[in-house]
Amino acid sequence: MAPDLARRDLPRYSAAPMDALGETPLNVMHDETCAGVGVGSGKVILLGEHAVVYGQPALAASLERGVIATAQFASAWSLHIGRWNLTVRPRDTEDADPIERAFAGVVDTLGGVPLALDVLLQLPSAAGLGCSAAIGVAVIEAVARAQGNALQRATLSELARRWDGHFHGKASGVDSAVATYGGVGVYSLESGWEEVVPGQPLPLVIAHSGEQSATSDLVAKVGAARQGDAERVDAIFGRVGQLTRLGAQALERGNLAALGDLMNENHALLRTLDLSTPALEVLRTVALDSGAYGAKVTGAGGGGCLVVLARHETKLPSLEAALRRHSRHVFSTVIGAEQFASCEASA
Ligand code: MEV
Repeated sequence: MAPDLARRDLPRYSAAPMDALGETPLNVMHDETCAGVGVGSGKVILLGEHAVVYGQPALAASLERGVIATAQFASAWSLHIGRWNLTVRPRDTEDADPIERAFAGVVDTLGGVPLALDVLLQLPSAAGLGCSAAIGVAVIEAVARAQGNALQRATLSELARRWDGHFHGKASGVDSAVATYGGVGVYSLESGWEEVVPGQPLPLVIAHSGEQSATSDLVAKVGAARQGDAERVDAIFGRVGQLTRLGAQALERGNLAALGDLMNENHALLRTLDLSTPALEVLRTVALDSGAYGAKVTGAGGGGCLVVLARHETKLPSLEAALRRHSRHVFSTVIGAEQFASCEASA
């Protein structure tokens, strides 16, 4: 059966190539043996990580780069991730790895004829860019399509949240929601994904600290801090929730300066929870000294990536160049660029 190449409406917004992080284009599949294809996008959290685990909203945007999974009918279930040189089978015993358990969960839930899944990563793992959720969405979608089962987006997002729980410990679902829906939105445990339409294109630079960020450890670290002093941590999260709501409004109005200020305050709060590192602080200083409106940890923190909000698209090359002196993995993306380009074209 020829693969269904419809990629839902993903990605909704354009992004410059993620140089040095993976160069495989999303439209790679033209394989007659392919029974199903799934795509999950990477993400940046602009405001609200960690607080979102405790019920506050988070503002996030999808990246054009993500994960593609293809499924072929086979005699036994398997999942292959070439970039990690890894092939696993579904297993949910106590000694199983998170990916084996996550895969077992998908097979249990969706079942059907055994499939061999091949996963193509365009994202670094443990970088705060939503790699594990994007794998989950891609795999679940590929399995469902191969079995002739068209999943509702809400179901796909929920199944991917469960998948991500094997990696995050306590997953809020923000990463799986962005990987499923794409675009820009506010996510909360209570309301799910709500799209936000930016009033201006959002010029971002993403710079990797060179340090791995293990989400489950960092979520556990925050959980321990909250157990130690619930009043302090809940007050921080309450303020982060306010910043997110204000940030969504600023983004809708196209007020990038205000959004940058909110990102800076959010970063300061994440730092009080010990979620930044010296390498991230160096990158942040460089970004702000180079004129960025805002810069903050994105994702779990403790390493991984910094997200930087530039003043304008035209400032991206100089900002990128400055950050490249301190980071081997830097790329820029303009969230909403496609939307504005098509508005201009039809005006
Ligand atoms: C990780 O990208 C975001 C966290 O808030 C965890 C989660 O929401 O599942 C740290």
